[in-house]
Amino acid sequence: MAEKLKIVPMEERHLDDLAALERLCFAEPWTRPCLAAELNKPGAVFAVAELDGKVAGYAGMNCVLDECYVDDVAVFPQYRRQGIALALMNGLIRAARARGAAFVTLEVRESNAPAVALYEKLGFQAAGRRRGFYRCPDEDAVIYTLYFSAKDRLEGSL
Ligand SMILES: CC(C)(COP(=O)(O)OP(=O)(O)OC[C@H]1O[C@@H](n2cnc3c(N)ncnc32)[C@H](O)[C@@H]1OP(=O)(O)O)[C@@H](O)C(=O)NCCC(=O)NCCS
Repeated sequence: MAEKLKIVPMEERHLDDLAALERLCFAEPWTRPCLAAELNKPGAVFAVAELDGKVAGYAGMNCVLDECYVDDVAVFPQYRRQGIALALMNGLIRAARARGAAFVTLEVRESNAPAVALYEKLGFQAAGRRRGFYRCPDEDAVIYTLYFSAKDRLEGSL
């Protein structure tokens, strides 16, 4: 698998597949126009995983000053458990470090065991809770944050 996986910046050509992926994964999916609005937006870093030329998944974040917020990460079911989300998230983390970010943060449904395991594997730590953050079904969000050390930030900016 690994030799055919490519992580590339999100482009217009990916948007139909990504909107379909959103509909498949989430109760309140990002629409194609929402995704399109992230193209060429300052501070937005959206990456797509292509496997054998097909869209396998994507991840995106928005950065403001030295803060980066992950909007989404999703992988089509048939491509899961092959390290694709890990590769996508590592790409976002590298991009955040390169910008000199202080941290990367995100929200996740507390029942979303695969995503929680992914974030913990990447070194994110539970940092708080937003009560009733999600709808359909109603659920709390857990905030997970990865803080960069001063050394990380210095190296990232070199
Ligand atoms: C969460 C999601 C993105 C993971 O994608 P993936 O490509 O399958 O993840 P990876 O193969 O990179 O897994 C990396 C690590 O995450 C954890 N993980 C991923 N899926 C898991 C699962 N079903 N059960 C337990 N741990 C899991 C494991 O630690 C895994 O490492 P390992 O395979 O060496 O054990 C995918 O399940 C998905 O698209 N879910 C629906 C969308 C979603 O919930 N996104 C998160 C929104 S906050």
